Amino acid sequence: MKEAMALRLPWIMEKCLKLLSLKKNNPIAPILLQKAVDLLRAGELVAFPTETVYGLGADATNDRAVAKIFATKGRPQFNPLIVHVDSVAMAQRYAVWNAWAEALALAFCPAPLTMILPKLPDSAISHLCCAGGDTVGIRIPNHKDARELIRRSGLPLAAPSANRSGRISPTSAQDVWEELGDSIPLILDGGNCQIGIESTVIDVSGKVPCILRHGFITQSQIEAVLQQPLAKPVLVEGEYKSPGLLTSHYAPTLPLRLNVTHCEANEGLLAFGTPVVKGAGVMLNLSESSNLQEAAAHLFGYLRKLDANPQLKGISVMPIPQEGIGMAINDRLQRAATR
Ligand code: TXA
Ligand code: MG
Repeated sequence: MKEAMALRLPWIMEKCLKLLSLKKNNPIAPILLQKAVDLLRAGELVAFPTETVYGLGADATNDRAVAKIFATKGRPQFNPLIVHVDSVAMAQRYAVWNAWAEALALAFCPAPLTMILPKLPDSAISHLCCAGGDTVGIRIPNHKDARELIRRSGLPLAAPSANRSGRISPTSAQDVWEELGDSIPLILDGGNCQIGIESTVIDVSGKVPCILRHGFITQSQIEAVLQQPLAKPVLVEGEYKSPGLLTSHYAPTLPLRLNVTHCEANEGLLAFGTPVVKGAGVMLNLSESSNLQEAAAHLFGYLRKLDANPQLKGISVMPIPQEGIGMAINDRLQRAATR
């Protein structure tokens, strides 16, 4: 505790650093990375950029630090957290590595891919992080600053998306500031996230690998590498194995209508490709050229923008093709539309 206090800067300096770090800053200055390392080692929370969305990071081996993540986000403790590491060697310190993990790591990592693996019996990862279960979600982010933060701190970082539970994931430091600015000591600014949608979660801890959350790395890419079809996620005692499959999630405040063919003047339209739907008060186009990767990168930011517009009573979305990363986009939209 004494150590933690000694590392804390006076309140006003903390605020200044936080604001300083909100300037566009890519790559992140070493002084800020060092400040983040000090905070993480002292059991504090730090928001940091990844290629998918911003994470709310804590030392995954420190129960109290992990508990702060749940409290800050208002996240139910039955929903486990992803552990971010900088290498396969680091992953192997905490999880039972198997042939599927090896093949996926060789093909993709570092990547927007989270692998659910059996936890090593003597793993130092906090039980809270794994929601008391015997598996751990491991990800090696494809973002230099994120990996540098892990390398410098020497810590595996538990990091959910840096938003309040159930809300839209943040894809810029400004988004994190709006979500959690008052409750965390530092936000590292790495600019806008390149991918903009959370990692694919693949469970390789059971008999047949199975996707628990769609993302940038698609089912067919994974099946090609593993040379086998994936299983469908199943309900266990009325609940999915991954609570991240909860139906209502990523929710804007305004109601969302999907696959629209018409729009009211008090609705904001999220268009895709040629905006054939007319009549909306405001329109934002996820990708004029119908590029699904571009659409994914814009999705959460545009949802946030429309949600914050006081003129609007709802958000409507044009159909998005159910292929490749379009599956991940539709997954997020469907859950955002569920109340
Ligand atoms: O791209 C991402 O994955 C981002 C960045 C920050 O890395 N993180 C993220 O974390 O989206 P979060 O907490 O918002 O989503 C993690 C998902 C949840 O659906 C959770 O239920 C699932 O992963 N998960 C984590 N550990 C698991 C485990 N041991 N078993 C099953 N599902 C797990
Ligand atoms: Mg999340």
